[in-house]
Amino acid sequence: MNKRKQVTLIRGDITNLAVDAIVNSANKSLLGGGGLDYVIHKKAGMLMKQACIELNKQKGGCPTGQAEVTIAGDLPAQYIIHAVGPRWLDGQHNEADLLCSAYSNALSKADEMKVQTIAFPSISTGVYGFPKQLAGEIAIGTVLSTLPHYSFVGHVLFVVQDSENYQIYQDILSKLVDENLVINIEEI
Ligand code: APR
Repeated sequence: MNKRKQVTLIRGDITNLAVDAIVNSANKSLLGGGGLDYVIHKKAGMLMKQACIELNKQKGGCPTGQAEVTIAGDLPAQYIIHAVGPRWLDGQHNEADLLCSAYSNALSKADEMKVQTIAFPSISTGVYGFPKQLAGEIAIGTVLSTLPHYSFVGHVLFVVQDSENYQIYQDILSKLVDENLVINIEEI
């Protein structure tokens, strides 16, 4: 009997989580930026930074909608999955599909690395200005529809920092009924 997959919503700082992998809201250069990207690069330290510089040199960075994996350096996680979400323009530039790809490619990379627990931020909803409601629907919809196909990933955490994202994720998750899934919503 397969163990049931788990999804957890928590409010907090993703960089403090001792999970197998945390996902970074990266940009195409993979060389750091503002927001969560800045915090991760600052806290992860030089070894992680060096790994990103190598990826930039070897692959020229990472296209929007794709993801790359590095060590997590000084962070408690084992890996960082740098996922590049789209900047929101007007919804007519493939933004929804690109955000969906960022989540599904990050999950796929995680499973390749035999990651069992992975934490996602709300990709593209900060500097990139993606509408939070639509982003939350895409995040949860993409993860839940692809999770059953993965052998290793068993627990996905959605980690949000602001109350608006928390309310959106809580509202979507609390309405889900799926006997194959354990849904945990951490009260704040
Ligand atoms: N833990 C969890 N979530 C966080 C944290 C944190 N420590 N810090 C920020 N967030 C949240 C933000 O509140 C937002 O909801 O992560 C989400 C993504 O925000 P950004 O970091 O601004 O990323 P994004 O909107 O995807 O834009 C990416 O910004 O930081 C630059 O280099 C990055 O160019 C890239 C762009």
